[in-house]
Amino acid sequence: MNQDSFAAVDSYLSGLYVDSDSALAEGLAASDAAGLPQIQVAPNQGKMLMILAKIVGAKSILEIGTLGGYSTTWLARALPADGRLVTLEFEQLHADVARKNLDRAGVGHLVEIVVGPAMDSLPGVSGPFDLIFIDADKDNYPGYFEHAMRLSHPGSVIIGDNVVRGGKVVDPGETDSDIEGIRAFNEMVGKDPRVTATAIQTVGSKDWDGFAIAYVN
Ligand code: SAH
Ligand code: DHB
Ligand code: MG
Repeated sequence: MNQDSFAAVDSYLSGLYVDSDSALAEGLAASDAAGLPQIQVAPNQGKMLMILAKIVGAKSILEIGTLGGYSTTWLARALPADGRLVTLEFEQLHADVARKNLDRAGVGHLVEIVVGPAMDSLPGVSGPFDLIFIDADKDNYPGYFEHAMRLSHPGSVIIGDNVVRGGKVVDPGETDSDIEGIRAFNEMVGKDPRVTATAIQTVGSKDWDGFAIAYVN
């Protein structure tokens, strides 16, 4: 097994389970054209986020790390007409591209994009949120989790993307601050009695990674 076969299976699964969608495809093309990195969630992962938001019955969603609004679009599609989604993004260019993509997808009216370093924005964000998706700079994951707890209620679900990073989390030679941030996040979420949490590793078009999911008790 190698990355080619993982990507082929992702393509097979997405082909069967995820409708090809012009709004999402045009959004990805616009993100690409603007030079944004292609680090959004895979189509089948985006749809999983939407399904999780539906299971939770989410009326309010917080996302940390917007990029071009790809995962944002999936999450916003789970919201009722009076729902709201707040998404935090450091780069003005990413926020501008996301705004156009979200409007094109018909969910722009549900979404507020807050531009700036998320650790600076979070104290001014008012919750609570039913679902929180953490997907920005990995160094700050521990801080994002503490804010997510403050902005949640019993029954909220907190999801953290990229908690495996190609296995670097278990390589003692990997001491970069982003890997250290992910390790600290996994340690704190795994032992926090306020949540019931687990983590799952994944392969696919986005290589070997994983996500953590925490239910707020
Ligand atoms: N959730 C997106 C992908 C996000 S990629 C999707 O799946 O479609 C990570 C994003 O976090 C990038 O756009 C990056 O600019 C942003 N980011 C990085 N550091 C940040 C910070 N300190 N505060 C807020 N956003 C940050
Ligand atoms: C990176 C960030 C992500 O959120 C992701 O899903 C994949 C890669 C990155 O910074 O490399
Ligand atoms: Mg990610």
